[in-house]
This record gives sequence, C-alpha cells and structure tokens, in this order.
Amino acid sequence: MTYRVLGLESSCDETAAAIVEDGVRAVSDVVASQHDVHARYGGVVPELASRAHILNVVPVVQAALDQAGLSLAQLDGVAVTNAPGLIGGLLVGMQTAKALAWVTGLPLVGVHHLEGHLSAVYLEPDPPPLPHLALIVSGGHTSLVRVDDHGALIELGRTRDDAAGEAFDKGAKLLGLGYPGGAVIDRLAKTGDPTAVSFPKSMTLEEHGHDFSFSGLKTALLTHTRKHGVPEGALLADLCASYQAAIVEVLVRKTRRAARTFGLRHVQVCGGVAANSGLRAAMRAAGAEDDFQVYIPPPARCTDNAAMIAAAGHYHLVRGERAGLDLDAAPNAPLAREPRRPGASR
Ligand code: KG4
Ligand code: ZN
Repeated sequence: MTYRVLGLESSCDETAAAIVEDGVRAVSDVVASQHDVHARYGGVVPELASRAHILNVVPVVQAALDQAGLSLAQLDGVAVTNAPGLIGGLLVGMQTAKALAWVTGLPLVGVHHLEGHLSAVYLEPDPPPLPHLALIVSGGHTSLVRVDDHGALIELGRTRDDAAGEAFDKGAKLLGLGYPGGAVIDRLAKTGDPTAVSFPKSMTLEEHGHDFSFSGLKTALLTHTRKHGVPEGALLADLCASYQAAIVEVLVRKTRRAARTFGLRHVQVCGGVAANSGLRAAMRAAGAEDDFQVYIPPPARCTDNAAMIAAAGHYHLVRGERAGLDLDAAPNAPLAREPRRPGASR
C-alpha cells in the first residue's frame, strides 16, 4: 500500500506544498516564491511574508493535489513545518495543515525545517546510508550534523555568527546585487577568477573546532569595497568568485575534517547554499580525494520546498507520531537536543 504525505512549508519566503509517496517519491512539488515581494527591501519583511503566505497557501495546496492527480481522500497524512522560522509564516502553514487534518481526519505531524532539509536527499535514487555526516547550509543556519537515524541527530558544529547563506546575501547586498543574492553571486562567480582577491580564511578555518564563523569575511568584503569601491564587469565577477571561494573553502575544509574525525564515509550537503555550483563541485572533489561519498539534492530541492517536509514527516507518521490541533509554532527551536559529543568545540 502506498503511503502518501502532503507536506506544507511556509517558514520563510516560500509557500510550498508537495505530496510524497512512501517517503521516497515526490509526485508533486509546488513552490510559490515571494522573492519579488521582498527584493525591493533587500531582505524578508515578516509581515509582508505572512500576507503573501495567506494569499498563496490554498492555491499552492490545490496545485500540489492537481499536479499529483490526487484528492484529499487519497492522502494518508499531513506534515507541516512548525519550527523554526518566522512566526507569522509558520502559523499560516500550520493553520492550513490543521484545518485539512480536521476536515479529513488525517493524522498531522510538525516537522523541524532543518530536518526537512536533511530529508530532501531521501527523495533521490541513491540516498546516503545511516549514519552519515550532513552539512546544512541555509539562509539562517550552518551546521555539521551526525545523522544517526531519521530524527536522531547530533550537532557537531555550527556557525558562531552569520550563516553561510547570510554571508552570501550580505555580500550580495554590499555589492548591490539584490536579494536573495546567493544565486546571483554564484552566476557572476562562474566567469570570475577566484584567486583575484585574497580574503582571510585562516582564522575561520583553524579556530573554533567544528564551528564556523563568517562575520570576518563579510567585514573583509566591506573593507575591500570601501578601499576600492564596488567594481563592475569582469572585476565584479572576480570579486564574486573570490568571495564565494572563501566561503566554499571554509565549508569544505571543516566538512572534510569532521568526516575524518568522526570516521564518516558518507556526506550529504543540504539547504539553500547547497545549490551553489562552486560548493557542489568543491565538495565532490574533496570526497574523491578523501574517499568519502558526497550526496547533494538537485538545486531546487536544496532551496526551500515542501517535498523535503513531507519526506521528513513520513518517518514520524509511520512511527505513529501524532500532533494535536494544539500543535505550537516554535520559531527558535534548535535542531538537535542531544548533548554535544566530546571533542566538539563548545
Ligand atoms: O534553505 P533556504 O532556501 O532558506 C532557508 O532555510 O534559509 O536557503 C536560502 C539561502 C539564501 O541565503 C540564498 O542566498 C542561498 O540560500 N542560496 C544560494 C544559492 N541559492 C540559494 N547561495 C549560494 N549559491 C546559490 N546558488
Ligand atoms: Zn530552508
């Protein structure tokens, strides 16, 4: 019997719904992005995000059903992001999920957004075995996590200041490239020389154990543009390529070290920044050199989507977990509650 889960995601600036079968097959995957709504403000405006989610959520759910050719009666459960994220956005998705569960009698579970990111890879034909190492790099988080089982995670390291996605977005804003800027830097970097500008990496690389720090890099870019101005054309491409290379180098070297330290031979990379072509290529090259296997979802499953939420929710639902209609949003809930392992840096 096929087990079908409807996933809902609205924690930031994407309203998304998807249907996943047996935790491994996305039969629909609909994402309504709000980038146009927020672009002129240079970042997500929470109240505008909530309003756009309200307008989009029902059409997006309907589109997910239509795309799959299914009716609500053919579903087996509903999974919704309830943590972390913008409270207004979370509530829109949760109220919708609760209403659907209530009228249909379907079971409901809440999913942590980062567990969702970790689960996108299970929708691929050759997912990583357990346990494995995961580098989660999104707009709000940068973490190295040991994945022991679905939902059983140990955080080995995290960023002490900016997330990798924030480093991309703040850098792009500084260079006048708009919001969100990660994909723009990625595109410009393709024609640039990554060795053109030297950014400080040693500090973030060797200090802090398995933790990350990106604020120094952002400051270095600011100092560079104060001194030399914001370049155009080929020089802008060089600057983007150099800045991206600095972020990528830190991410890859810390991941390599964690894989070695914890003896993990399978490594997945997920979250919006995992869409970055430089990071994808560098991580694959590192895996080939150090003999660990690298798993990265396709770019559209790295950035926010609801298929990953349905995939994560699947395991909770089949284990019999159920949320009541009193399920709460937890805007700041951490990913892993387990104690840090000995050897972690704090
Ligand atoms: O996972 P995500 O869609 O949302 C959050 O959970 O935060 O990640 C969004 C982040 C943004 O910072 C965005 O700039 C970054 O992912 N991003 C990229 C690329 N595509 C999205 N960063 C670098 N290169 C990309 N191609
Ligand atoms: Zn995300």
